[in-house]
Amino acid sequence: SENRNTQLYKGHVEAAVFYHRVFTLTDEGKPGREYAANREFTKDQIDQFQIGFAPIGWENLSTFLQKKGFNPKDLVEAGLLAEREQSDGVYDRFRSRLMFPIWDAQGKVVGFSGRLVGEGKPKYLNSPETPIFQKNKLLYGLHLARAQIRKSNVAVLFEGAADVVAAWGAGVTNGVATLGTALTPEHAKILRRNAETVLICYDSDQAGQSAAFRSASVLEQAGCIVSIANMPVDLDPDDYIKRYGAEQFQTDVIGNGQTVMAFKMKYLRQEKNLQDEGERMVYIEEVLQELAKLPRAIERDHYLRQIADEFSLSLDVLKQEQYRMYKESK
Ligand code: GTP
Ligand code: MN
Ligand code: MN
Ligand code: MN
Ligand code: MN
Repeated sequence: SENRNTQLYKGHVEAAVFYHRVFTLTDEGKPGREYAANREFTKDQIDQFQIGFAPIGWENLSTFLQKKGFNPKDLVEAGLLAEREQSDGVYDRFRSRLMFPIWDAQGKVVGFSGRLVGEGKPKYLNSPETPIFQKNKLLYGLHLARAQIRKSNVAVLFEGAADVVAAWGAGVTNGVATLGTALTPEHAKILRRNAETVLICYDSDQAGQSAAFRSASVLEQAGCIVSIANMPVDLDPDDYIKRYGAEQFQTDVIGNGQTVMAFKMKYLRQEKNLQDEGERMVYIEEVLQELAKLPRAIERDHYLRQIADEFSLSLDVLKQEQYRMYKESK
């Protein structure tokens, strides 16, 4: 109910203030401050994203909020506390974690993403689904990035909150992220309402590349123009910025998006030795298969010419072969 949700919202506001205060002002916040310093988060980033720390221990937030008069049941429903299994009572869901508050599109805190500080699992713990926190339509950072997304007509899509924060520090202020879920059609619709183009900037590991293809397809179905950022293998945007700096991130990553097809071609060839005739033929076949899926003839033609040039093949033969595949796929 409306009234119930009000309590969930209020609990989140108080929790965000609590974690941020612990982080900035207390002895208990020291592990968080050291961790943030190691990750090179600046004061600006910490202020802008209200980064906090959930202290070590089981009842810090629980005690704080109950003293303020919150009902433990509401706090469990909010996903801030959890119910003990062996006995009565509740405990803090987030412990020893760097805390990223998650806002809804209106800028209300509705959840958290917590990065573990120290050893253990899981590395990231996100709030559970609640009446006010629905992962399939929530984009981290949207209320902060929206003006810049509209102005530039481009939204940059990252894997996680840490990448959004790092990119913002590097001057890329039109970034958002999903939170431990695949991009949904609802996410895509929201992005499309705010910009024509989406630049996918995921981690360059295997998981990130596969996720980029899936997201690209969801975004294209929602009518977005999609490009995919290119990064050296096994880095994520956060790592990249630390290693190469803000300027190079802006020019070589953000300013250098590729079409989905170009990215696919790079992906298909990365595990192959194209000097080998057999592998080369497999590669060309795979590219032709992918090209057959492109709706626009102009785009198909562009890549066919590229392949013909690179491998000294006759464009006519490639076109015939491609046409055969195109018809087979119908
Ligand atoms: P850092 O070491 O903090 O830089 O993390 P990372 O860059 O290795 O994070 P990764 O690329 O693995 O994850 C990107 C996003 O996926 C995170 O922001 C989370 O939202 C989500 N994620 C990663 N690990 C977990 C996990 O263990 N549990 C859940 N629920 N989500 C995760
Ligand atoms: Mn990882
Ligand atoms: Mn990743
Ligand atoms: Mn990552
Ligand atoms: Mn990372």
